[in-house]
Amino acid sequence: MSGIFITFEGGEGCGKSTQIKLLNDYLNEQGIQSISTREPGGTEIGAELRRILVTGDKSKFDGVAETLLYFADRRIHLTNKIWPALKEGTWVISDRFADSTTAYQFYGHGKKIEMADLKAIYKLAVGTFEPDLTIILDIDPEIGLRRSFSKADGMAVKETRFESIGLEFHQNMRRGFLEIAKENPQRYVVLDANKTIEEMHKEIVELVEQRFIGKQWKLI
Ligand code: TMP
Repeated sequence: MSGIFITFEGGEGCGKSTQIKLLNDYLNEQGIQSISTREPGGTEIGAELRRILVTGDKSKFDGVAETLLYFADRRIHLTNKIWPALKEGTWVISDRFADSTTAYQFYGHGKKIEMADLKAIYKLAVGTFEPDLTIILDIDPEIGLRRSFSKADGMAVKETRFESIGLEFHQNMRRGFLEIAKENPQRYVVLDANKTIEEMHKEIVELVEQRFIGKQWKLI
């Protein structure tokens, strides 16, 4: 028995964490064992990598170093948390996974890394494993960044390293997510993140029920 692996993706301030919490609670209410986690920072070591990656000066390292650090976090996340949970039959919902690296470090930074190199790093760190479903919450970066900065106001340590990179980076990243989604409509679903929290939750539940529940999983 293996659990289902669902990832949420999208730009800053798209509302992923709210939707992940709602979906995780919903699944648990249905009697499905599921956990939510995130990248970077889904493990104890990952939390240290997260601090390095998302705080401080935007140019403290380049896109190549970022890519390697994100994949180091991902590898630890997979081996220490995601794979063991899935093996037990637990569903795992992750706030970001490898598509974020493609969107941010490849598209965002203007394709300075070769796609072939990115694929090679993916193969090394992740192998042939991939999410069963990826939900992309699409938002105009100008709106998302505004939301994200106002959230950061209340943070003791400001996680705004990426927010402080210019708008063009975020527009590239958004286009990147939309291109990735087009390549594999089976795995990716793009949802409009301008809708209300309740509307989006309803769409996500319908999607997950259609895809998975009643097949190998039954509502209890
Ligand atoms: P979060 O704010 O959604 O938790 O994500 C943390 C930041 O890390 C966000 O600005 C996006 C960025 N990020 C990447 O640039 N590449 C990645 O592979 C991941 C997982 C996140």
